[in-house]
Amino acid sequence: GASLLASVSLLSSAAMAQTVGFSQIGSESGWRAAETTLTKQEAEKRGIDLKFADAQQKQENQIKALRSFIAQGVDAILIAPVVETGWDAVLEEAKDAEIPVILLDRTVDSSKDLYLTAVGSDLEHEGKVAGDWLVKDVGDKQCNVVELQGTTGSSPAIKRKAGFEAAIAGHDNIKITRSQTGDFTRAKGKEVMESFLKAENGGKDICALYAHNDDMAVGAIQAIKEAGLKPGTDIKVVSIDAVPDIFQALAAGEANATVELTPNMAGPAFDALKAYMDDKKEPPKFIQTESKLYTQADDPKAVYEEKKGLGY
Ligand code: AHR
Repeated sequence: GASLLASVSLLSSAAMAQTVGFSQIGSESGWRAAETTLTKQEAEKRGIDLKFADAQQKQENQIKALRSFIAQGVDAILIAPVVETGWDAVLEEAKDAEIPVILLDRTVDSSKDLYLTAVGSDLEHEGKVAGDWLVKDVGDKQCNVVELQGTTGSSPAIKRKAGFEAAIAGHDNIKITRSQTGDFTRAKGKEVMESFLKAENGGKDICALYAHNDDMAVGAIQAIKEAGLKPGTDIKVVSIDAVPDIFQALAAGEANATVELTPNMAGPAFDALKAYMDDKKEPPKFIQTESKLYTQADDPKAVYEEKKGLGY
């Protein structure tokens, strides 16, 4: 009986992808680092040999990594694409080699039949949730907003901007007065916020900051404090990701709201891959993760404790 069971489980695991290449963008944010950690953990849990390639923010490195995965004959590829455009050729090469590709957290503008599925949040909806929060919070008051955008050309930067703009459309009291990329990093977020503060009467003309991720918000909070203003009060702060550090800022009253993005995209991705490889089950083209709003009212200290250790 035991040996029959062992050979059955051997047979079923043989069908699942054994070697998966993962082309990661880099480690620009706390969220990104957690996604890397969790992807490695999820692969290990499932006995998958994960070949990891860090692209250092460069699309050309991601294309090279994909070509090398194809040459090695991996069973499947995961990619978090740094920008939206320019993937057709390499995705076609993977398709010709019959290697399924799964997109993680960011999308591409290529035809849907060039990849198996995409796991991620509704990026435009995230921006809308952030904007809706601000609309409600400011009421009829005049509010000049400064915006820290994510990496230029990346799907989250494009869609989070569009979603936020849709939320404030029709509310003439709310205006985006400055908008620039902070590349999703803490250092760039701080640097660009410093220039916004200088340009806007030392910050006195800014009512709110919208940052496309928490790391840039954390950098900007530091800049606001150094300018002698109170983040969270003088300048409202709303951002996206829900990393542990933003909960410390929420608890200290220095941030106001964040929209959660789960860093565990690999769990659903590997599940879809297994169903596809083992049972020929075609997954939907988009596997959506949740986008939950957190504010100072959501016991940020407790959430901070919960979040630490979940890949962060
Ligand atoms: O693609 C997801 C975004 O990339 C996260 O919101 C940001 O922190 C990361 O760098």
